[in-house]
Amino acid sequence: MKVRFHGHACFSIEGGGSKVIFDPFLTGNPLAKVKEDQMDVDAILLTHGHSDHLGDGLSIAKRTGALIIAPFELAMYCQFKGAQVHPMHIGGSYQFHFGKVKLTPAWHGSAVIEDGNIQYTGSPCGFVVTLENKTVYHAGDTGLFGDMELIGRMNKLDIALLPIGDNFVMGIDDAVEAAKMLRPKIVVPMHYNTFDIIKQNAEVFKAKLSEAGLKCEVLEIEDEITL
Ligand code: NI
Ligand code: MN
Repeated sequence: MKVRFHGHACFSIEGGGSKVIFDPFLTGNPLAKVKEDQMDVDAILLTHGHSDHLGDGLSIAKRTGALIIAPFELAMYCQFKGAQVHPMHIGGSYQFHFGKVKLTPAWHGSAVIEDGNIQYTGSPCGFVVTLENKTVYHAGDTGLFGDMELIGRMNKLDIALLPIGDNFVMGIDDAVEAAKMLRPKIVVPMHYNTFDIIKQNAEVFKAKLSEAGLKCEVLEIEDEITL
């Protein structure tokens, strides 16, 4: 399986002839290197409705016919906007043609801001996705929570994508605690440096994980790891 970082919380994973993308925030991301019209995927997994996660999700879905997989309320919002959707909710899993998806809790908010109005889109989530016998945990936007221990115990995680930007999500020290509970083979930091308010030194995160016996890969934008 190939895991590619497109910036912020956006990753694509590819395996078994399928490709799915998480939180495709490309337009408006000052660090993004690819454009939304270069994205061709089978499914778009959305953790919540904030603009830095929903991002280009609707335009990619409508252009390519990719299925949007999201918590129920956000999925309904996307369906009303003309996308093909598969609604799920926290704790539920489903076997798609490309692999298995399970929604995990995330401590955060979820809303779309449109024309000066806040449209709430239910609970945010994280995802555990198994493709080609490899399992990825995308934590979404979240604070630290103790049930990550359960996620780590119940899933043999090949890779965990964890936010470290602080302010809106976990900072470095909390993300280190998260990784200790999740015990993935590889930890990849996300959701930092996109904006000044979430500036972090990922090398500090990597060093702290190394002290805890955990392996971290800091990906540059458009870097790819093969698992
Ligand atoms: Ni958010
Ligand atoms: Mn965010």
